[in-house]
Parts: sequence; structure tokens; C-alpha cells
Amino acid sequence: MVEITLPKNSQVDDGKAWPKPADAENLREFQIYRWSPDDDDNPRMDTYWVDLDDCGPMVLDALLYIKNKIDPTLTLRRSCREGICGSCAMNIGGTNTLACTKGIDEFEGAIKIYPLPHMPVVKDLVPDLTQFYAQHRFIEPWLQTTTPEPAKEWRQSHEDRAKLDGLYECILCACCSTACPSYWWNGDRYLGPAALLQAYRWLIDSRDEATGARLDDLEDPFRLYRCHTIMNCTQACPKGLNPAKAIAEIKKMMVERRV
Ligand code: SF4
Ligand code: SF4
Ligand code: FES
Repeated sequence: MVEITLPKNSQVDDGKAWPKPADAENLREFQIYRWSPDDDDNPRMDTYWVDLDDCGPMVLDALLYIKNKIDPTLTLRRSCREGICGSCAMNIGGTNTLACTKGIDEFEGAIKIYPLPHMPVVKDLVPDLTQFYAQHRFIEPWLQTTTPEPAKEWRQSHEDRAKLDGLYECILCACCSTACPSYWWNGDRYLGPAALLQAYRWLIDSRDEATGARLDDLEDPFRLYRCHTIMNCTQACPKGLNPAKAIAEIKKMMVERRV
């Protein structure tokens, strides 16, 4: 029989079951991915019980309850608690989403929480987003012009401004890119839905004058064309944006400039 050796840290072990809070009547179970680079152990799933009568309504409230009252070593990112900063993105109950805008009551039974999938893990629920941010940098997300700057401001009609709706609201949470199978397998060369949504946001900005160069940078078998319209990205976006449509629009612009 062939024996396969799994890569280090690829197996998730059963973890510690932490004691239930004393005298609590309204308990909810959370199973949370734990891994630290500081020891040699495999990742594990720890079980915690949260007293819902002593905790806010969101999954982030439960994570902070656990961190503050049960296990201070639990590591996660969060900042705004309002769905604006994107830092609390993680995989909750099998879906990439924001812990601060996801209600505990949206789930039945034990709630399983992992870091965003297919990214290197820094620790526990914190993914390493270095490559994700480098891809955002690659699309040069700023206004580029060649005509001399106007004395006051770059003007834009209401109609042209409206074209940016559904694009500028992206909070760079990475829920979409880490839900995309093409990004899982080719994340080093495919830019992914988040970066491409932002690429489109600048491509259709009526004030920007670098459209040709921006399209040239995307004309590549991997950077853009690895999108196979699977639509996971659009389903995952907690802000209700549609990266798959933006990618389709870029592909259309590529065709239109050839004819
Ligand atoms: S539509 Fe494209 S970017 Fe979105 S999940 Fe599918 S392959 Fe990925
Ligand atoms: S498009 Fe949506 S899911 Fe993707 S990074 Fe932006 S806000 Fe997050
Ligand atoms: S904490 Fe900022 S989006 Fe959740």
C-alpha cells in the first residue's frame, strides 16, 4: 500500500474543549481554528461556549467574548466593527464573510470558524494578505492623467460619477478572492476578483487618462483571463458587489479595443 506523508501543518487535529461559563443558561458552541507558528503542532479546532446573555449579537462579539473572558491567546484582526475596514474577514460556517456584520443567530448549532481559505496563516484567524495587497498595488489604484492639472478640480458629470457605484465601495476584505477557485490554484499569477474590480473602477473613471496602459497591463493569459465566471466571488462579497461582472466588463473592453 502506498503511504502518503501529508505536508507539515496540513492536518487539523481535534483541539481543547474549554469549560462552559458558570451559571450560563443560553449557551452557543463555537469551534475555532487555532495555529501558531511558535510551536511545532498541527492546527487544531478548539471548542468554546459563549454565554449569549452576556454577549453582543454578532460573531465578532462572540470572538471578543472568548478572547476577553476565556482564552486571551486567540488571535484575530478587527478594527471598525461596522463592516468598513474589512479586517475581520474570515470563513464562518463555511462562507467567507465579515465577523462584525454576521449575526450569531444566522447559524444553527455549533459555529465553525476558520481563517480565509487558501492563504498562508500568520496565526489562528489571521491570514497573510501580502500578495493580495501587492496585487492591488499592481493595478495602480489612483487617478492617472496626462493633461495639465485644472486650477481647481477634475470635474465629472453626475452620469459618469454614477458609473463608479458598485465599485468604489470595495473594502478590500479579500472574501471574494479567497472564495475563487482560479485564485486558489493560480493566486501568484491571476490577479483575482478584488484587484480586478478595482482595475475596472479606474478603467471606467471618466477622469482617468491611462485606460490603454491599464488594459495593456491586464492583457495576459493569467492576470485577467484565469477568471472562468464561476461567480463564487460575487456570492461571497459581504458588501453586495459584483466582481464577476466587473471582470466581464474588462474582457469586453479588451475585445472592443481590438475591433
Ligand atoms: S467569476 Fe471569476 S473571479 Fe469570480 S470566482 Fe469565478 S473565476 Fe473567480
Ligand atoms: S469586492 Fe467585496 S468581497 Fe471583494 S474585496 Fe471588495 S468588498 Fe471584499
Ligand atoms: S471589523 Fe471592520 S469590517 Fe469587521
